[in-house]
Amino acid sequence: MTILGQSIPDTAHSPRTNSFPGELRKDLLTLETVPRHHVLRLLQIARELKAAPRPGRASQWLQGLTLGLIFEKPSTRTRVSFEAGMNQLGGQALFLSSDKIQLSRGESLADTALVLSRYLDGLVVRTFDQSILEDWARHATIPVINGLTDLTHPCQALADLLTVLERKGSLKGKKLAYLGDGNNIANSLIEAGAKVGMHIAIGCPANYMPDPSIVEKSRIEAEQTGAIIEITSDPVEASRNADALYTDVWTSMGQEDEQAQRLTAFTPYQLNESLLAVAKPDAIVLHCLPAHRGEEITEGVIDGPQSAVLDQAENRLHVQKAILTEWLGRPWS
Ligand code: CP
Ligand code: NVA
Repeated sequence: MTILGQSIPDTAHSPRTNSFPGELRKDLLTLETVPRHHVLRLLQIARELKAAPRPGRASQWLQGLTLGLIFEKPSTRTRVSFEAGMNQLGGQALFLSSDKIQLSRGESLADTALVLSRYLDGLVVRTFDQSILEDWARHATIPVINGLTDLTHPCQALADLLTVLERKGSLKGKKLAYLGDGNNIANSLIEAGAKVGMHIAIGCPANYMPDPSIVEKSRIEAEQTGAIIEITSDPVEASRNADALYTDVWTSMGQEDEQAQRLTAFTPYQLNESLLAVAKPDAIVLHCLPAHRGEEITEGVIDGPQSAVLDQAENRLHVQKAILTEWLGRPWS
């Protein structure tokens, strides 16, 4: 397979072989810090795992390993796909709702991270501020994987790349238009697209633009990969000739107090039939889910023939299995 002009070797994958010594960081906090060739490698492993019979060789890869999941926000896809993925690779997952552990009664994050590191082999954390995730990573001696923060959602963006790759055959030069809130999804899509040479067009209201520092760093990465990072307030301009149209909720978890003003601000950015008409005729429609039909996307578009949202949701499982094989079971310390 060729992605980004590089052919990826079809190597028999062994999770305990450190193929790129020193290049992967202990933690997967943002895509910015994942080397480009590793992004491509994760996609390749995900494809191999998706195609592999189950139960098969991979069902022993993480035998004896345990993944903890600490979630401060609700989740369907991230939680279940990590738990199922861990089981499919021969390991176990332990869901730790943050209000059910001693953290909720004042035990420090540092003590919790250090103690959990004595029992577990990896942690997925879903939290609010990116700095809280960084605290987990700093204190834990095991890998910490970002299960969504207010700023980023890297596992989602990797699944999105896999979906575009499957549907369009390549990533380099493909135009993905993201419409609506310049939120965690938009930020990670920008980072992901910059790694693989895509044209990412963000159409957001002026007050809801993606994180400027992420945009700046991604544009630097884009100089190496040929990616284009386009930011506009014009949803039609963003969508024109796109290979993929993508949107997300207008009110993310934790922003419920702002719902009324957000509804007004984002109405012109609804992913509807008119915007789909300016994209390429074979454009696919993406949404990380959960969706609000009639708000950020019309029912006709999300449930229509161009929608790839269920493949996209399924690909969370395959990409995260690739992440688990790459990050768990290595001697990090
Ligand atoms: N897309 C996504 O992360 O979904 P969940 O909130 O259900 O995990
Ligand atoms: N932007 C959304 C994504 C949900 C998967 C949120 O943070 O709530």
